[in-house]
Parts: sequence; structure tokens; C-alpha cells
Amino acid sequence: MNLNKNTQKGLYIKNFGCQMNIYDGERMQEMLEPLNYKTLENSDNADLIILNTCHIREKATEKIYSELGRIKKNNKKNGNNATIAVAGCVAQAEGKELVKRAPMIDLVFGPLTYHRLPEILQNFDNSNIKKRKAIIDIEPPINDKFNVLPKRVSDKNRNNVSALLSVQEGCDKFCTFCVVPYTRGIETSRSCEQIIDEAKQLISSGVKEIILLGQNVNAWTGKNSNEKDMDFSDLINKLSLLDIDRIRFTTSHPRDMNEKLIKSFSEIEKLQPYLHLPIQSGSDRVLKNMNRNYSTSEYIDIIDQLKIEKPDIAISGDFIVGFPGETEEDFIMTKRIVDRIGYAHAYSFKYSPRPGTPAAEMENQIKEDVKSRRLIELQKTIKKNMFNYNKKFMNKTLKVLIERKINSEGIYSGRSPFLQSVHFQSEESNIGKILDIKITKVKENSLFGEIN
Ligand code: SAH
Ligand code: SF4
Ligand code: F3S
Repeated sequence: MNLNKNTQKGLYIKNFGCQMNIYDGERMQEMLEPLNYKTLENSDNADLIILNTCHIREKATEKIYSELGRIKKNNKKNGNNATIAVAGCVAQAEGKELVKRAPMIDLVFGPLTYHRLPEILQNFDNSNIKKRKAIIDIEPPINDKFNVLPKRVSDKNRNNVSALLSVQEGCDKFCTFCVVPYTRGIETSRSCEQIIDEAKQLISSGVKEIILLGQNVNAWTGKNSNEKDMDFSDLINKLSLLDIDRIRFTTSHPRDMNEKLIKSFSEIEKLQPYLHLPIQSGSDRVLKNMNRNYSTSEYIDIIDQLKIEKPDIAISGDFIVGFPGETEEDFIMTKRIVDRIGYAHAYSFKYSPRPGTPAAEMENQIKEDVKSRRLIELQKTIKKNMFNYNKKFMNKTLKVLIERKINSEGIYSGRSPFLQSVHFQSEESNIGKILDIKITKVKENSLFGEIN
């Protein structure tokens, strides 16, 4: 990339972790564009490198340091003097500790402070590489970042067919294993008005599907224009009146599910039949120690009610194996619940002790080799369920929202209502359109088909 350094600066953002970080990364980009930053594919010619980090498991946090090592080596080779920023959840959790451990870091800001980036950059003097003084800005602000961020515009660096929209941030649930309440702050909902405004901006930039985001998105609450209380299903209802094809949301907490939201899946046509509802474990004893505040039978009840409303709904989940004190019996119950629910998709992780969380201090930590074996076994059970779920769609026709071209041989990819990736061949682009695709081959992770 040939950048004219006087007029244009190169920006490289690397996102780690969840969709909240992808959303924040997009907003950082949008904020820096008016300041003449152009987004680059790699860090080689970048003037500003932002690592948008995740703190959820030890491995995620450690990735930052290996990435910093790679950048340092690369910059030395290229003679690049880029400003290096660490954003996201590690930044929020570790603050100045980060700079102590890796003095090459110039800027540290968190998920609640990234809207101050233009000001931070203005205050940072990067002229003398030896005397750079790092700026750390992680104090939660008085002003809401969403009041400061620029309008959403069409952007080639973003998926312009399906867009993320953050509606709720933070968490007060304090599951004993989790760092999110410490990295994203207390649970807060954006106002309905602000969300509708942003949705309209996305729609006018060509977006066809909106994915509402939140750490516990279904805990969203707000008020309508008459100051009447609204819950999350009211918000979906309101959004469904806009000129949008599809609505999705993630991640939901079983505690915040209610009958009205369950009914929304049959009553709001634009709401797609897919729900990510993590259970974490199939053992009530483990769930109690995790402080999840629901039992397996309550969870099963929710799923059964959902299947009454929408029989083919795709359920997805998250699982943790090797939580402190998890016995072989507890683990067997987790595998059993996967089969009972018949997950269409699920993520599974080995428990990772996180500094400052109660579970890290618990006795009976599980040995690494036991965690690894349980993870392999669980993933086998999950894969079997994913394949069984997908098999039901063989020879059926699905409405697929086309998102992108995969290769030069005319293979395109889109999403079914059930969030399956569907690949097919086409002469024309059709990106952004919904096509009928007849499924001719199924795998556990994707479907293949032909335009019908
Ligand atoms: N709010 C969501 C989850 C957000 S974190 C919920 O409560 O369902 C995403 C996932 O990371 C969690 O569902 C959990 O499965 C996993 N996770 C969180 N902390 C973890 C830890 N310490 N070790 C392993 N996995 C963890
Ligand atoms: Fe973490 Fe629990 Fe909050 Fe989910 S509900 S973000 S797992 S503390
Ligand atoms: Fe990771 Fe923060 Fe998301 S810890 S999972 S990036 S909320």
C-alpha cells in the first residue's frame, strides 16, 4: 500500500474475542476515518496499530503478548515507527500493568473509553521513539460513548449485508468463572431512540440484517417515546417495523428469558429462528457453583416452550468443561443435555482460572489432562448433534441471505434463517438478496446447494 504520509495515515486494527469487540473495532475505524486514517489489511505500513483484546480465558490474554512480539520484530525489520495501542477487555482489566510488562505499548484504552481516541491521539507525542510516554485512559467516562461516536456509514471493511448493533453492555451477574463484569462494567442498556437511529443509519447504508448485541442482550430495558417501560421483545417489535429483512440477537442469558420473548419467535416474522442460549453445564451442582441462577430443568423448560412456538428453531450454546469440582458424573450430565437439547451449534471451552474471580480460588481445580479429554469428548457429542440438525435440511429449500463471494469460480456464501452457512454457485453476484437455495449436501458446519 502506497500511502501519502502527509495526507493519509494507515490504520491496522486486530480484533480478538467476541462480536462486541468486532462492533467496537468498526466504531473505532469510523471515528478515525475523518482524521485521515485508512484501514490496512496488515500492520506493515501502519501508523497506528490497535489490538482490540479479549480477557475471557488465559489463552486469549496471552495472545496479545505474542502479537506484540510479532509486531515488534516486524516493525524493526521494516523500520516502522507505528503508534501501538491496546484496546478492549485486557486493556480495561490490566491498565498500566500492560505497559509495565510490554513498554512498547503507547496507548491503552478500554471498551468504555475508545470514543476519546481522537483526543488521546492528539495528546500523544510519537516524535521521539525513545521518549514516548504512554497514555492510559480506562476511567469510565461521564459522557456516554454512543453520544459521541459518528453516524454509521457504508463501509467496505464491514459486512454491509449483516450488521452488528450493540444495544446492551456490561454484566452484573458475576458468574464465578467470568471476568466480563470487571472488564465491561455494570449492565447498561442503550436508549430505544438511539438504537432505532443507528438501525436507520445502517439500513440506509444498505444493510439487510441487524444482529443486536449485548453481554446479556435479553436483559435490555428501556422506555418508549411516551415514557412507557419497554423490554427486549418490545425493542425487537419496534425494530421489525423498519425496512429490514432479518433481525437476530446474541447473547441471551437463561435467567432473562420470558414468555413474551419466547413468543416473539413465532409472532415477529423478521426475527430469525435461532437462539444462542448458553447453559455452561448439564449438572445442577456445577451450575450452582458457577452462580448461574437456573437449573437444568428450568433451561429445558425454556427450550421446550421455544420448540412449541417454533419447532425447527436452531438452539446454540456455550459449555465449560473442567470447572472446579466437576466430577465424571457431572460431565456425563453435560453430554446428556447436549443430546437432550439437540444443539444446532455450540462452543465449548476448558475452564480457565481468571485472576480476581471466585472460581479461581476454589479448591478441587481439575487437572489439565482431564479437562482436555473432556473437551474432546464433548466436542464429539456436539459435532454429532450439529450434523444431525443439518441433515434434516437435505433436499429442502432454504431462504438464504447472500453475504459474500468466496472464490473466483463463482462460489457464493450466505446464511439460512437458522444461521447455517450455505455455499452455492452463481453467475451473478446477488449479494444482499435473499435467494431460494435447494440443499444438496450437508456437513456439520455448513450446507451446500443450488439456486432453485
Ligand atoms: N454472557 C454470556 C457469555 C459471555 S462469555 C452468558 O452468560 O451466557 C462467552 C463464553 O465464554 C461463556 O458463555 C463461557 O462459556 C466462556 N467463558 C467465560 N469465562 C470462561 C472461563 N473462565 N473459562 C472458560 N470459558 C469461559
Ligand atoms: Fe460472564 Fe456470567 Fe455475565 Fe455471562 S452472565 S458475561 S458468563 S458474568
Ligand atoms: Fe472477550 Fe471482552 Fe468479549 S473478555 S469475550 S472481548 S466481552
